[in-house]
Amino acid sequence: MITLGIETSCDETSFAIYENGSMNRNGSILSSKIFSQSDIHSKFGGVVPEIASRNHIIKLEPLLTEILTESSINLKDIDLIGVTSSPGLIGALFIGVAFAKGLGYVNNIPVIPINHLQGHTLAAEITHNDLKPPYLSLIISGGHTHIYSVDIAYNFRLIARTVDDAVGESFDKVAKMLGFGYPGGPNIENAAKTGQKNKVQLPIGMKNKLNFSFSGLKTATMRAVEEKRYSKEDIAASFQSTAVETLLLKTLKAVEKIGIRKIIICGGVASNNYLRNTIKENFPKDIQVFFPIHKLCTDNGDMIAYTAYKLYRLRKFLSLNGTAYDSDPLMDRY
Ligand code: KG4
Ligand code: ZN
Repeated sequence: MITLGIETSCDETSFAIYENGSMNRNGSILSSKIFSQSDIHSKFGGVVPEIASRNHIIKLEPLLTEILTESSINLKDIDLIGVTSSPGLIGALFIGVAFAKGLGYVNNIPVIPINHLQGHTLAAEITHNDLKPPYLSLIISGGHTHIYSVDIAYNFRLIARTVDDAVGESFDKVAKMLGFGYPGGPNIENAAKTGQKNKVQLPIGMKNKLNFSFSGLKTATMRAVEEKRYSKEDIAASFQSTAVETLLLKTLKAVEKIGIRKIIICGGVASNNYLRNTIKENFPKDIQVFFPIHKLCTDNGDMIAYTAYKLYRLRKFLSLNGTAYDSDPLMDRY
């Protein structure tokens, strides 16, 4: 079975083609393409939704042609289309969903809506072939800092979430304060390499609670920038280490509370190597931690194609007719 995944929820336009495996062969991504608009948005210091939508319109068709040519797959070979339907920028989502529906209608291919957060989580299964639920998923991205527990039937249950900013958004805002470009995460990670993480004392939000909070950390970092006493590198390193300590602390609390000692860490911020190393070094050894490979942490079509295949086989998908957005099972829980 061949599945096409389409991702347009923010500023990445992406397609991927996944072919499932059989008894003696693992499934694999046959081809994938990403067009990142980050250069277009960086001069605004963040994603401008209207510009993102317009660039998806420009890029979707040529990217699809490229991926089909590269994988020598014909549209008539495709058995299923999965498209990100929520959460994300509403205009950007509409473009992807409308494109998928048109493609499916004309070529008589079923189209199913995929939740972006489920996609981020299942990206780890593409990387680790034998990984299966039950597990916890810590999703750390530009819009989310959420922990879900996932049961064997791929039901997602919200365990903890940020009550204000997402951790990725905090990386982006701190990068902007320091005069770095968008997306801020990789720039903060780079600058932090030559900084000292104990130079600036910064707070862990809602330290004794399970939920996350990053607004206090962001404000305290802004005060440190205004003081003009510290180097950019020291501020970046101090911010990064406090953000990571916050993630580590809350995740350990969730593991203890739920009792599932297997966790996926995914989403754009999971590509941060300081975070990966700190978690590996500091987590109790009986907790299994799984990261997707770096390029599957940030938004991509691979995770949507794979998730579409998985959920289609389990008959766990929704209709795209009418208001798919309202009937998304995770909708009231982000
Ligand atoms: O998952 P993603 O591509 O899009 C959303 O679903 O939001 O995540 C993007 C976020 C941005 O906030 C970006 O700054 C952050 O992931 N990010 C990082 C790193 N690479 C991307 N944050 C910290 N360190 C990184 N290396
Ligand atoms: Zn994402």
